[in-house]
Amino acid sequence: MNIRTNVQTVGVLGTGTMGAGIAQTFAQAGRTVLMYDALPNAVDKAVATIGNSLDKFVEKQKLAADAAAAAKRNLRPAALGDMAGVDLLVEAVFEDVAVKRALFEQLAERVPPEVVFASNTSSISISQLAALSGRPDRFVGMHFFNPVPLMKLVEVVVGLQTAPEVVEFITRLSQELGKTPLRVKDHPGFVSNRVLMPLINEAIACHADGVADAATIDEIMKLGMAHTMGPLATADLIGLDVCLNIMEVLHRDLGEDRYRPHPVLRTMVRAGRLGRKSGRGFFEYGA
Ligand SMILES: NC(=O)c1ccc[n+]([C@@H]2O[C@H](COP(=O)([O-])OP(=O)(O)OC[C@H]3O[C@@H](n4cnc5c(N)ncnc54)[C@H](O)[C@@H]3O)[C@@H](O)[C@H]2O)c1
Repeated sequence: MNIRTNVQTVGVLGTGTMGAGIAQTFAQAGRTVLMYDALPNAVDKAVATIGNSLDKFVEKQKLAADAAAAAKRNLRPAALGDMAGVDLLVEAVFEDVAVKRALFEQLAERVPPEVVFASNTSSISISQLAALSGRPDRFVGMHFFNPVPLMKLVEVVVGLQTAPEVVEFITRLSQELGKTPLRVKDHPGFVSNRVLMPLINEAIACHADGVADAATIDEIMKLGMAHTMGPLATADLIGLDVCLNIMEVLHRDLGEDRYRPHPVLRTMVRAGRLGRKSGRGFFEYGA
């Protein structure tokens, strides 16, 4: 199979929370990163966020000043048309099939067929996105974790049609980025969210039943299970709306009651208590 495996230039589509982190990671690994977002100013904002993050690494002596400067130089704001010149595309736009489909349709003609498309989706079927992409055998899940520059894991999600060479390529590339790639089959929630979301849902149920308060539930999981973060603080970090959305996918696609989102989660989302991003979820975060 003819795919580009020598990645000098990567296109990152969507430069929000994840796209910015993904762009930073590739830039630190010496790749030129073409950054595109549909929202005006989103790329500028991401470049500023990445700059701050790199400066903090330098302050903490985790990165040399010249390495940070080189990473900053690797970032290039780009238009969709510029993606014709990339060796790999990584998609991190809104978690919405229609949005992703429209983007792939615009890219199908512009981007050479030997360029692999990778999606950072947390819950949409990779096989479905692959079918919509026009290059199903050259489509793969590259599921990074937040904050991307710090988190080691890349869940490499293998769609029904993903070619073995593509899986090999993304596995090797993830290692070159300093990550630990772990391969999973395309299945609702992959492994990460299929295991995490029921844990969060059960913690919410404990809270709702008054078994313990939020801080106690989290402390029990931290001290008893050696988790770095408790499930309720994790839910607040991910965003309660995002958690609800993933649980709905698990419930719908796996069809079992045990994946049903707790009604309290739904009520909190309806009330706008979304976790850190809204200042309040299971814990308070101030302004
Ligand atoms: N936040 C997480 O913890 C996390 C973790 C793993 C995976 N993901 C996945 O990563 C993806 C992005 O999530 P996020 O949290 O960064 O979202 P976000 O809302 O922070 O960023 C999404 C960005 O995509 C842009 N966008 C929307 N439509 C676009 C289009 N057509 N073309 C270009 N840009 C477009 C938006 O303007 C926004 O800047 C989702 O698929 C999500 O499921 C998120």
